[in-house]
Amino acid sequence: MRNIIRKFAFAAMLLTAPAMMQAAQKNVVNKPGTFTTGNKTFLLNGQPFVVKAAEVHYPRIPRPYWEHRIQMCKALGMNTVCIYVFWNIHEQKEGEFNFTGNNDVAEFCRLAQKNGMYVIVRPGPYVCAEWEMGGLPWWLLKKKDIKLRERDPYFMERVKLFEQKVGEQLAPLTIQNGGPIIMVQVENEYGSYGEDKPYVSEIRDCLRSIYGKELSLFQCDWSSNFTKNGLDDLTWTMNFGTGANIDQQFRRLGELRPNAPKMCSEFWSGWFDKWGARHETRPAKDMVEGMDEMLSKGISFSLYMTHGGTSFGHWAGANSPGFAPDVTSYDYDAPINEYGHATPKFWELRKMMAKYNNGKKMPAVPKAPMPIITVPKFELKEFAPLYNGFDYKYTWWDHKEEAHGDRPKTFEELDMGWGTVLYTTRLPQIDNVKVEGVYPNDAFTCTLTIDAHDYAQVFIDGKYIGKVDRVKNEKTLTLPGIKQGQELQILVEGMGRINFGRAIKDFKGLVSKPTITAELHSHLGGVDKTEVTFTPNQWECMRIPDDYEVAVKAFEMQKTKPTTREKLNEPVIGRGYRYAKNSDDLIFGRGYYRGYFELKKVGDTFLNFETWGKGQVYVNGHAMGRIWSIGPQQTLYVPGCWLKKGKNEIIVLDVVGPREAVVWGQTEPELNKLQLEKSNKHNNIGDKPDLNSATPVAIGSFKAGNGWQTISFNAPAKGRYLAIECLSTQKEGDRVAIAELYLQNPGGRRLSREPWKTKYADSEDEAGNHLGDKVFDLQESTYWQTEKGSAMPHLLVIDLGSEQTVNALEYLPRAEQGAPGSVKNFRIYLY
Ligand code: GLA
Ligand code: CA
Repeated sequence: MRNIIRKFAFAAMLLTAPAMMQAAQKNVVNKPGTFTTGNKTFLLNGQPFVVKAAEVHYPRIPRPYWEHRIQMCKALGMNTVCIYVFWNIHEQKEGEFNFTGNNDVAEFCRLAQKNGMYVIVRPGPYVCAEWEMGGLPWWLLKKKDIKLRERDPYFMERVKLFEQKVGEQLAPLTIQNGGPIIMVQVENEYGSYGEDKPYVSEIRDCLRSIYGKELSLFQCDWSSNFTKNGLDDLTWTMNFGTGANIDQQFRRLGELRPNAPKMCSEFWSGWFDKWGARHETRPAKDMVEGMDEMLSKGISFSLYMTHGGTSFGHWAGANSPGFAPDVTSYDYDAPINEYGHATPKFWELRKMMAKYNNGKKMPAVPKAPMPIITVPKFELKEFAPLYNGFDYKYTWWDHKEEAHGDRPKTFEELDMGWGTVLYTTRLPQIDNVKVEGVYPNDAFTCTLTIDAHDYAQVFIDGKYIGKVDRVKNEKTLTLPGIKQGQELQILVEGMGRINFGRAIKDFKGLVSKPTITAELHSHLGGVDKTEVTFTPNQWECMRIPDDYEVAVKAFEMQKTKPTTREKLNEPVIGRGYRYAKNSDDLIFGRGYYRGYFELKKVGDTFLNFETWGKGQVYVNGHAMGRIWSIGPQQTLYVPGCWLKKGKNEIIVLDVVGPREAVVWGQTEPELNKLQLEKSNKHNNIGDKPDLNSATPVAIGSFKAGNGWQTISFNAPAKGRYLAIECLSTQKEGDRVAIAELYLQNPGGRRLSREPWKTKYADSEDEAGNHLGDKVFDLQESTYWQTEKGSAMPHLLVIDLGSEQTVNALEYLPRAEQGAPGSVKNFRIYLY
């Protein structure tokens, strides 16, 4: 039945396509043209053409500012804008498509054309982009066994429907139809995910059937792996960052396709920020020199990002291995900053780009659409406790079977994309266990083990016990002496779904059954310690969807019962939450805060949240993004186009609770203020292994220069820890740097790095974000680097998670010319 309905929907959709095409064509101004691949160059209407593209993302810019940002890109001397299409913003509910307002991607393309810019479209279906689930809709995960980015029939069916819908918007805007779109990308960096060429071919065929045979299709990937997914009939382009050795990046392509045009499809101007680590920057000089070099060699590029913007609401993603959620700002240290202003990088770039503007004057730099304003400090005086956000229409006692069961349910099973869930169970009869020598009510300590995605706070009978934070890889919490029948409550907030690597199948909530291990102690001697593990098997789940409407309702419920400020900081959830409507004894501090600020003049501002805990912010009903006290981001960009003269409303949902419920607007963002419990470095001397009597599994020296190298061991070695001792660098005086490491098993296959953790590093440049984990973060442009002036030798120890048998090590130095910091002599240990 479901299938039949789907087929009907599909047919109906096709019927409406010509009508939509007419609508879109109304605004097309150019004559039909061509964009093709010639001998070592692209050809625009038959003439050699170098693509100078600026990557910008329409959902990361408020619509009223779109044209300004496009003009800013043009003022840099760019001739093209490059955009992703974000599936999950267009199809937030299965089968309901939205291409209006801030989602009107066709309008964005028309604005580009109006301003004399071409457009490159990258419609996924997967886009990465530090965006929730890499652009895939969360509801795909309602089908638990779905295979993402593979030929899973359901996945492919949904992909094709989505691409068809995008095509209705954009196919009329190809250059062949007189529009600005010159190229469309097939998938995204598939080589760093899989090698399923038939899958990539199916995406290609789907796009070809939508955009026509004449439109140029291309693939982007890293120089180290593009052959894994490169299709013979598509253009291949390379992604790499500021500072990379450009000739090296194109070497392999040149060998395989000597006559192909060269293009860096993502030249990373900066980098993204994650919660709990320093703000990332990249030197302007390196970026500008790299682009100058490319232009002097006729190499096309897209500058990723030229303007990064903001991942508003809950749209920021997360990286893996491990779990590294991205902050709300997507400033990216790009030449045009988060709020659309020119940075020093912008001016340097513009100066260089002028050399390649055919002697013509550079386009003018447009004036910002809004001034920057401040807002004096004010208090958010209204409060509604978190339980007012409970979705009372979705409860077990209201016949929602999913809301309870013998195990906690994931958000996806609870049919909720984003938000928080309160999981409740009764504690088992731990004191009733018959253990010889242990009396029923003897003292015991308990350890709770949970797999929480992503931030769990644990309560017993409403009393806060502690947190289990996935970002820190935490899985356990010690519970105090507990009693049978007490209520165990676990409040789990989901953050962005992982957007990179195999871990994109990232379910939220409690993703497995929690266990409680009790250590029983006798007060009479005899057996003094016994361990028993319990698995509670009755769970209730209450949803708190992340949604402005939910917040508003929370205050409606509160009207009858105002809460006093004095109670705000008591971190108590209170038992019997299900009777919350009648009870006073509940979560204080955690919940919704509402306040107002008056404006005489509207403008862009940066609201400061450094006194708050963790959560979401809504201004005049617009979801502004996530906040988290740990930083580095402490302010949220609030665009003036969403503010108004007079009274403006702000609601903060704080799942942890603020130190002080105050906010103020400032003229500059704060993107680099950490408030951590302890530093992220791995230099705890107790973790340093004693290698004096250990035998290395390999001793030798790496070659100089860029690119991967493999060191085979004499014989397979076993161990849980990998230690790499760096005795010297290729260039004396360099700080040691390593971009990536892999280990191979005796069959020559790479071990999964998913469970890897940095155990010890004697030196790490934390200010530059060059910690030990950068050698297994899947990114070739990031690296571990030792601090300035720290003495050789250097030691990095990685915990592989469990004992492994290893036969070889793969090593990648930095991507920059001359591979700065590359290691010469080394010793490798496995223990
Ligand atoms: C890759 C992806 C992009 C983005 C960058 C990092 O190149 O293709 O979507 O994630 O990495 O910013
Ligand atoms: Ca790396």
